[in-house]
Amino acid sequence: MIQEHPVLKVLQNYFEASAVLTPLLAGFQFLGLLRGAVDSGLLTAARTPSTTQQFAANMNTDIERVGDYCHALDAHGVFVKENDTYRLADMWATLAAPEAVFSFEVILDHAQVLSNLIAASLKNTETYWTLTSAERLTLAKGVTTNPFSPHSPIVLDLFFQSIPGIYERLAQGAQFLDIGCGVGSGLLGTLVAFPDSTAVAIEIAGDILEETRRRAIALNVHDRVVFWQGDAREFPDQSKFDFVHWAHTFFPVESRAGTLKMAFDAVKPRGYFIAPLENEPLATDEDLHTETGRANSLQRLIYGSWGIRPVSHQDFQQELEVAGFDEIQVLNSMLGNFILARHP
Ligand SMILES: C[S@@+](CC[C@H](N)C(=O)[O-])C[C@H]1O[C@@H](n2cnc3c(N)ncnc32)[C@H](O)[C@@H]1O
Repeated sequence: MIQEHPVLKVLQNYFEASAVLTPLLAGFQFLGLLRGAVDSGLLTAARTPSTTQQFAANMNTDIERVGDYCHALDAHGVFVKENDTYRLADMWATLAAPEAVFSFEVILDHAQVLSNLIAASLKNTETYWTLTSAERLTLAKGVTTNPFSPHSPIVLDLFFQSIPGIYERLAQGAQFLDIGCGVGSGLLGTLVAFPDSTAVAIEIAGDILEETRRRAIALNVHDRVVFWQGDAREFPDQSKFDFVHWAHTFFPVESRAGTLKMAFDAVKPRGYFIAPLENEPLATDEDLHTETGRANSLQRLIYGSWGIRPVSHQDFQQELEVAGFDEIQVLNSMLGNFILARHP
């Protein structure tokens, strides 16, 4: 009898198990759909309601292909069809706005690079320096805000208002040190927001620093920032900064103590130290099966191969004490949690 054939049970189990894949595969294709809409300019074009003929003429593409693409974007809630025109749905217009604090294109690029890094993380040969320059840049851009957004300086102004000691110095004209400036989102946004302040920015990767320099010129703050390329532990300038900011989550374990010593020597007496705090490392095995647990486990794969390990808030506090800082506190801010300390 067909109904009793054992393969039927195997098939039934297979179809039940494959249900877990269905949303993943659909999401993967949805990302491809969004990627094509960004790369072709269709997403930007749809900020103005247009017919498929108008899209096709502007993009120099076949009208039927554009029609099918709009249809798929409509099916996914990205486009809204009104009479014979398509426009971006409000939520997607917000996400993909050119002035968005987080660039939509960078979000897509970043997701792709992270996925590639996770897949390659079992190879012993992968390090920060075996990444292509484009991947390194995408990683640096993907973890921060878009400094060209007109909202960025406002967000940074509001953020620093929650730390009155630093805010007053910035408003009067502070000199600050950014350790591991990356592509300079925080650094450059802060310089735009506080026009009397100046900075020194340290970055080990030359390709990243080149991009930051280009951005500084485009934002017209290049005459208020000095760039220093090299390992932060070897930074020679000392004792003149009102505050130091350390992007410690990209620093390998063996560089942490030396970098903190340099930071301590570089900040003025009564000056400030500030650094973002990550999620706490997992406390119990049960936490592993939560959203945070899953995110942390993937972070470990991505950054672990570069010698970077998550540091608990308590361990970070101890590192700061060993370096000589005091008045250590955690700050819950609109931009996440930060650790704050002062030079005695
Ligand atoms: C991703 S960035 C931080 C982002 C930055 N705060 C922003 O707003 O754009 C961190 C940087 O630290 C740099 N870095 C890592 N180890 C370093 C070291 N020992 N000395 C100097 N820079 C280092 C990495 O190359 C990376 O670009």
